[in-house]
Amino acid sequence: MADVAVVGAGLMGHALALVFALGGHQVRLTDNNPETLERAPGLMATALATLSQAGEADGTWNRQRLSAAVRCVPSLADTVKGAELVVEAVVERPDVKRAVYEQLLALMEPDAILASNTSNLDIFPLVPEGLKARTIIAHWYTPPYLCDLVDLCPGPGTKPGVVEHVRDIVAAMGKAPVVFKQMVQGYVANRLQAAMQLEVYRLLDEGLVTPKDIDDSVLHGLALRIPILGIMAKADFTGLLLMQQGMKNRSYTPPVPREKSETLDKLIEEGRTGVMAGKGYFDWGDRSPEALFQERDRKLLALKQALRAIGPMEGK
Ligand SMILES: NC(=O)c1ccc[n+]([C@@H]2O[C@H](COP(=O)([O-])OP(=O)(O)OC[C@H]3O[C@@H](n4cnc5c(N)ncnc54)[C@H](O)[C@@H]3O)[C@@H](O)[C@H]2O)c1
Repeated sequence: MADVAVVGAGLMGHALALVFALGGHQVRLTDNNPETLERAPGLMATALATLSQAGEADGTWNRQRLSAAVRCVPSLADTVKGAELVVEAVVERPDVKRAVYEQLLALMEPDAILASNTSNLDIFPLVPEGLKARTIIAHWYTPPYLCDLVDLCPGPGTKPGVVEHVRDIVAAMGKAPVVFKQMVQGYVANRLQAAMQLEVYRLLDEGLVTPKDIDDSVLHGLALRIPILGIMAKADFTGLLLMQQGMKNRSYTPPVPREKSETLDKLIEEGRTGVMAGKGYFDWGDRSPEALFQERDRKLLALKQALRAIGPMEGK
């Protein structure tokens, strides 16, 4: 059992605190917004209830045990004092991250490891010299109590063994770490998602399809195969000759990267920002965001359990 500090208690931070607690660690969670920190125990308890109902958390977990395992601490200094691992999950802004790392240098134990959950930033130039040897990226997917993938990247100055140590901690919690030899910006899964995003916004902005057409194509097409075959094994089953021919016959040009989408901008202007606002591409009716997240979690858990029983098609 390690002493783990989680800095930032937003969408990812509170969920990461729950993951580490369920993994057997003693966690302290902080946020510089008191309201966010106050909201965290309720959100963790809701997620825990969903996991317990699905049999994914043992019966001894309840609200009381959770509040003993994750302490919400207003002060950053008290949060990181004594922690062996500091998980950084603050907003994705270089200026904020840089300032937090400066503070952490003064506050962290001399051997403690800093693991950033950044999605897209190369954080290593933001890290002060005194922390570089023990800083890595450990990037999780939301919700991290359901998604097992954790991308692990060392920085150019990270000491050998640091990534492997975090990989072992993560793997011991039943998660699926993927270790990159160096910083791979965007990792694999986020790069694939980004490529899909480019196609999605081109199709929408050119008025070729509706959001429903996109989700129907994914849910009834891509989604069935990916959980069993991934992408590379699927290519083997398709046959690599057809893959080669498909590249030669290219019937349309891949989208040029753009930094905006008219469709997206219009929805945001109308206040349609997603489930938290009750509407985005789709209308989510009168259900609260909590109820919608719970339903999503229940369905994802049912799928995860079924996939665990089925198992992937794994080549050597
Ligand atoms: N949202 C996702 O799906 C997702 C997935 C993977 C990784 N990430 C990454 O995780 C990190 C956090 O993202 P999020 O979605 O949880 O954001 P969020 O906005 O929900 O939470 C960030 C929290 O950081 C807090 N914060 C800001 N400055 C702080 C400081 N100086 N000290 C302590 N707390 C501070 C904010 O008050 C906020 O509660 C980002 O780097 C993001 O790229 C997000």
